[in-house]
Amino acid sequence: MKEKVELILREAESEIEKVTKEADLLNVKSKLLGKSSKVNELMTDLKSMSIEEKKQYGRVINELKYDLEQMIQSKYNSLNTNEFLDFDHTLPSNQDHGSLHPVTIVSKEVTDILTKMGFIILNGPEMESEYYNFEALNIPKNHPARDMQDTFYLDNGLILRTHTSTNQVRGMEKYGAPIRLCAPGRCFRNENIDHSHDNTFFQLEGMVIDKNVSIGNLIYVMKELLDNVFKKDVKVRLRPGFFPFVEPGFELDCSCLICEGIGCPTCKGSGWIELCPCGMIHPNVLRMSGINPDEYNGFAFGMGLTRLAMMKYKIDDVRVLNSGDLMSLERFNLK
Ligand code: DAH
Repeated sequence: MKEKVELILREAESEIEKVTKEADLLNVKSKLLGKSSKVNELMTDLKSMSIEEKKQYGRVINELKYDLEQMIQSKYNSLNTNEFLDFDHTLPSNQDHGSLHPVTIVSKEVTDILTKMGFIILNGPEMESEYYNFEALNIPKNHPARDMQDTFYLDNGLILRTHTSTNQVRGMEKYGAPIRLCAPGRCFRNENIDHSHDNTFFQLEGMVIDKNVSIGNLIYVMKELLDNVFKKDVKVRLRPGFFPFVEPGFELDCSCLICEGIGCPTCKGSGWIELCPCGMIHPNVLRMSGINPDEYNGFAFGMGLTRLAMMKYKIDDVRVLNSGDLMSLERFNLK
């Protein structure tokens, strides 16, 4: 054991000595102390020893670990000191600047346009109760619509919100009617991941409640929004769609901007992208949040911000958006 420990220390010394960069030091650290390190092998040897031996060698191994950590820490300190001294704050930067994430950019654009139309911006929690995510949106327990949204259930009895529609309820409860609100945010579903699905994605909820609101108002707001986001005349179409919290409900599609309507994997060859389910708010939803449906009505929409960012920046694989891969961001020319 003693020889083994000395050998490990000597090897560690020479490896640490050679390191010149912080990143390399992290690799050396994991080699010396990580799961497949020699130190870990010694720990495994301990298991088959008697209690007396365990005490004796356990202490030796702990000291070895301590020594290795000290060596790594002092190397780390010396690397950082040098880097700091070499750094001249007065030099002009020739480094690439970072950029905002594509979803952040479209979210800001959409909320800017909507706030000009008099919408307020609401932020709700990502960890939600089933009441806000389902019940208050006219999706009672055991309703089949719950199965459509593969929900992540948490140990604390709450869930990860499957959509931003939760904020319709929060907005109505807090502000009552009339109201215009939008709520961008992250949503979660237990999806199989592929180029067009991720388990974490962004939506933007929009809601207008007033007297005598019409489907014409809904179409106007949606078209105005999309034209402004894409800075051109975007083709839209409405198809009937079912969502328990709207009646009538629609699927709003826009012409696929990746292939200009010809057909590609992102639009599954149809030339259209399902962008924004919407509809006239169901009277039950208004009633449950204390708004009289005989007096007020309204529309709501749930825009796929992730999908919108993909359209706008011609990103053909949703997985890059949560990958943290800077090279991909450069590819989209966002700098
Ligand atoms: N929350 C729905 C979903 O994620 C989308 C949705 C549909 C939102 C219709 C709406 C709406 O506001 O009116 O599946």
